[in-house]
Amino acid sequence: MFTDIHCHILPGVDDGPGEIEGSLAMAAQAVADGTGQIVATPHNMHWRPGAHRERMSALAAQVQQELDQRGLALRIVVGTEVYIAPDLPARLDDGRAYTINGSRYILVELPFTFWPDFSEDALSALQERGLVPILAHAERYTTLQRDPDRLRPLVEHGILVQLTAGSLLGGFGREAQRAAQVLLEHNLAHVIASDGHNTTYRVPVLSATLPLAGKIVGPEAAQTLVESVPAAIVANQPVAIAPPRPVLKQRSWLDL
Ligand SMILES: [Fe+2]
Repeated sequence: MFTDIHCHILPGVDDGPGEIEGSLAMAAQAVADGTGQIVATPHNMHWRPGAHRERMSALAAQVQQELDQRGLALRIVVGTEVYIAPDLPARLDDGRAYTINGSRYILVELPFTFWPDFSEDALSALQERGLVPILAHAERYTTLQRDPDRLRPLVEHGILVQLTAGSLLGGFGREAQRAAQVLLEHNLAHVIASDGHNTTYRVPVLSATLPLAGKIVGPEAAQTLVESVPAAIVANQPVAIAPPRPVLKQRSWLDL
């Protein structure tokens, strides 16, 4: 049974489904794929005062009730996809940021095209509060596509890394696909999630990545990326990780 820790399944809160019917269709697709638990992670990038945890939890409970009535065996818990900011601790204090299912784990996203210079400080400020940041879709950041080894000190200091299933499948372009492979090869990625938004082109599906991830890390380790690791995150259990390996720069003819 898969656990999906990054999914925009709640209705009417971000760029996920507009109505609850869309949430239920995503849920049915996820269940058919073998998912048993989803963390609803609405964006908090364009913070609206109504997007606090209590309201999201109420919305998730509403979706859960509909799922139960339809006999869909899926558990929905609540998190948020926190946009990196210099004042993340203050955002935690006033409820603009919160963790996955009340655990120590918090999903954090960075801008796609640049790496803010306060990122490392903001992440370690979370760690100083006893939290474990999980970097969302690391393979999609251009900085890491060019220099994946930049992630290594962060992982060595306890940051976890989430890859998006669609990236491994090539849905976000060759650079993201290559970066996802490199991060897996070097123990710089720990969990695969769907980052699902709908039932058409950003789907809540994980199984398709298993053969691909399996080729890189082996079938057993690939399974942990979608099963035991994300389940431990939701249950607030520790996650054992393999030590990351340095990513050696490929020499190009320009270096010669
Ligand atoms: Fe997302």
